[in-house]
Amino acid sequence: MQKIGSKSVQDLFNSIAKRYDWFNSIASGGMDAKWRREAVKLAAPSFVENGLDAATGTGRIAVELAKITKNVTAVDFSSAMIQSAEKYVEQQGFDQKISLLQSDVLNLPFRSESFNCATIGFGLRNLPDIQGGLQELFRVLRYDSRIVILDIVKPKGIIKKLMYKIFFQQILPYVGWFLSGKRQPYQYLPNSVETYLSPDELTYLMESIGFHEVSYSLKAIGSIAIHVGVKK
Ligand SMILES: C[S@@+](CC[C@H](N)C(=O)[O-])C[C@H]1O[C@@H](n2cnc3c(N)ncnc32)[C@H](O)[C@@H]1O
Repeated sequence: MQKIGSKSVQDLFNSIAKRYDWFNSIASGGMDAKWRREAVKLAAPSFVENGLDAATGTGRIAVELAKITKNVTAVDFSSAMIQSAEKYVEQQGFDQKISLLQSDVLNLPFRSESFNCATIGFGLRNLPDIQGGLQELFRVLRYDSRIVILDIVKPKGIIKKLMYKIFFQQILPYVGWFLSGKRQPYQYLPNSVETYLSPDELTYLMESIGFHEVSYSLKAIGSIAIHVGVKK
């Protein structure tokens, strides 16, 4: 199965931005908010100065991060997602603390060693060059800073795999279609998980890029992985 190009991913997220949060809540049974909070706590266990949320989407992680950092920079290459994020950030009262920027994660407009922590939630899987994205995040992190990657993965074990297949490949695309009237973007979701790295492969890649103390935890019958690594 082939990955689709950057422009198609951008168009796809532009087309689903309005229904994105609804779909996530329904698809995760309301657990997505908890996973994001957990990811943020791992990225910044104590108060830090500058946080980066890459592929921020509608800004959910950025707002959680803003609660425990001085400043947050949140980037996404979808203009529609950034617009939704602007609304959400303002509603939550964090517009003074969060800078939203339309930018590609593969080419971040920041100097090296700018951030004290970085998060990327449900975003890494969508990059056409996962290694390039991780290298870019590594570059902009300061030393002794953490990266946290939250994403969907394929579970291990026959029963879990079967449950995952029925839910992700047979049910969720129809839920997305029903909610948005659009079919193609929600067929992309299971395909993107299919071509994504396993948790162990991602661990290996993070270590090869230079992250230390890489570990991960699994949630939701092993279909959600939260990876943590430190730039030393
Ligand atoms: C599934 S959403 C995740 C949004 C959010 N982080 C969350 O927790 O819900 C993936 C986001 O990644 C963004 N994205 C994908 N590839 C990107 C890239 N190369 N640069 C910047 N953003 C990208 C999409 O526009 C989309 O908003």
